[in-house]
Amino acid sequence: MKFLGDVRKKDLAGKTCLLRADFNVESAKDALRVEATIPTVKFLLKNGARILILSHRGRPKGVDEKLSLKVFIPFLKKNLKQEIHFLAGLPAKLGAGKIFLMENLRFWPEEEVDGKDFARHLAKLGDFYVNDAFAVSHRANASITQLPQLLPAYAGLLLQKEIKTLSLVMKKPKKPLVLIFGGSKVDDKAPVIKYLLPKANKVLLGSSVLNNSATLPKSSKIERPIDWLAEGSLAMDIGSLTVERYGAEIQKAKTIVWNGPVGKFEDKKYAGGSAALAKLVAKSGAFSVIGGGETTQLILSLGLRKKIGFLSTGGGAMLEFLAGKKLPGIEALK
Ligand code: 3PG
Repeated sequence: MKFLGDVRKKDLAGKTCLLRADFNVESAKDALRVEATIPTVKFLLKNGARILILSHRGRPKGVDEKLSLKVFIPFLKKNLKQEIHFLAGLPAKLGAGKIFLMENLRFWPEEEVDGKDFARHLAKLGDFYVNDAFAVSHRANASITQLPQLLPAYAGLLLQKEIKTLSLVMKKPKKPLVLIFGGSKVDDKAPVIKYLLPKANKVLLGSSVLNNSATLPKSSKIERPIDWLAEGSLAMDIGSLTVERYGAEIQKAKTIVWNGPVGKFEDKKYAGGSAALAKLVAKSGAFSVIGGGETTQLILSLGLRKKIGFLSTGGGAMLEFLAGKKLPGIEALK
């Protein structure tokens, strides 16, 4: 795999980059993913390239103005101090300008079916391709898997950092390694738990495991909540005894990997368990890697960002990577 950071200026200057980013966030205020791509854009600008930013947002069925990428223009303008040229349609060629942002790729149905013709059309707009969209690299979409076959292709600075950090925690984690897995679907986490269990010292599960019959391996390393807040027969958040018990493991940890809140976090009444664990992780001194939109949002809202080792922009992609699966977007760059 070739990394953008290793490419010489003379190979970038005067050329146009198709930069696949992941701006798949609900609100433009939720800036982590957009912000994470800024260093790559700045690197390209510094090296004299012009840039066409490509991204999807949401899961639209055709054109849906609520999922337009226009909302990111003010943020990009402010952070890059450049004019952002917005492309509502798919042009035959780019006009004058340094930074272009194309409308939501999923407004074209060909994107999600890995369409070759759509990719060929996009490829005509640039000279080389950069994947900085780790978060969607587990999808075989045209801009992820086809474009790197049509143009010289590189991993962007963010993708490189994601691969390096997640590989490190998988292959050589400092022990004890503690995994915290929550979120509504425990079954999504089962493959990661199975794959990482031999290396992990503890796996701490959120309250939703009590509501779903997940196919998890039998192991004394896996801890389930011992008390919880309930609504009817449903567990909604972990209770204070569980926080204490999980806290003891977090304190001993040297590496922590966390994906998914441990309660129904979007409801303030049930955000307490996740917030308490976030504070404990931040205080622990362990190298922590946290991913998934809700969990990273929680860290940002509590102002704990600087105390966390690495905030991954990946949700599903982080889980698939940690489960040892090959991600189509990463494979396509090899
Ligand atoms: C994500 O948010 O996990 C990625 O952007 C992928 O989005 P998708 O699950 O809609 O394909």
